[in-house]
Amino acid sequence: MGGDLGGGNAVIDRARSAATERRASAGTLRVARKRVVAEGVVELTLVSPDGARLPDWAPGAHIDLVVPADGADAGLVRQYSLCGDRWRPAEYRIMVQREADGRGGSVAIHDRVAEGDALGFGGPRNHFRMAPAAEYLFVAGGIGITPLLPMIDQARRLQQPWRLLYLGRSARRLAGLAELAELGGAEDRVAVHAADELGRADLDAWRPADPAVRVFACGPNRLLDAVEAWGAPPGGLAPRVERFTAQVSAGASPSAFEVVAAHSGATATVDAGESVVDALRRVGVDVITSCAQGVCGTCETGVLAGDPDHRDSLLDDAERARGDCMFPCVSRSRAARLVLDL
Ligand code: FES
Repeated sequence: MGGDLGGGNAVIDRARSAATERRASAGTLRVARKRVVAEGVVELTLVSPDGARLPDWAPGAHIDLVVPADGADAGLVRQYSLCGDRWRPAEYRIMVQREADGRGGSVAIHDRVAEGDALGFGGPRNHFRMAPAAEYLFVAGGIGITPLLPMIDQARRLQQPWRLLYLGRSARRLAGLAELAELGGAEDRVAVHAADELGRADLDAWRPADPAVRVFACGPNRLLDAVEAWGAPPGGLAPRVERFTAQVSAGASPSAFEVVAAHSGATATVDAGESVVDALRRVGVDVITSCAQGVCGTCETGVLAGDPDHRDSLLDDAERARGDCMFPCVSRSRAARLVLDL
């Protein structure tokens, strides 16, 4: 995430409820510094208005930011990966790539946010946690470097072996190269592949055969689809990816089912063409949403009974198998009845 949703700048423009605004505005951050860090990429350093310590976070985490909308009173709620030093507790850093044909969040940050501004924020939340591994391979596409920088820092601090494949259209557009040099890029751990100089990358040459190597990747869907296609090496784990935009799903045609909000007992029928969120809103149960595409994690909801049909881009296989939470903006039910912790 480094644009809207931290980097991909694509997703988070759907209608928001008042509850969504309240949650995203759980606190306020002041823009202490804004600087250009690559062509089309700015970095914001955000601090508490009173200089107080900010909520802790771990590599892979993101925050919600309320950024000024063009000509509207309400702001746009967007998600951005934290890319700074987690051991500096009084500041957050994000990088945002300008997406002129995005949904407005990145343009707002580039054009309408200045040093000294106050922005509402929520979080941090983390749906891209760095799992323990003996060795790491990180794969970044463009602004997808943002959640990976703190992971690399953590691997370095723990003295665990790591490598990074960093792909982009042009080296001029790649943010974080200075940070990577400090983190060990000079030791041949970082391979930068700029397509305008080197042509198309041979991605499969990077596919790890060693089950000790865990892959974490963030970037455009085309890159992540290719990384996910590597699958798990024998005895190892599948790559873990974070997407800017929803994956195109080729799942079975949805059918209707019943959803129950356990706290109120409100019950709704989710028709084939609607989401669980929309069905619950019809019976007065408001679920906080942002992306409505299963990529930001805002609507995460506990499952008390039933068999969720996961259609998000967030959970890994083990989390899906547990079946104890879901993202009802996109996910559905395999069974006739689903009971949610709402
Ligand atoms: S609203 Fe973003 S995952 Fe559901």
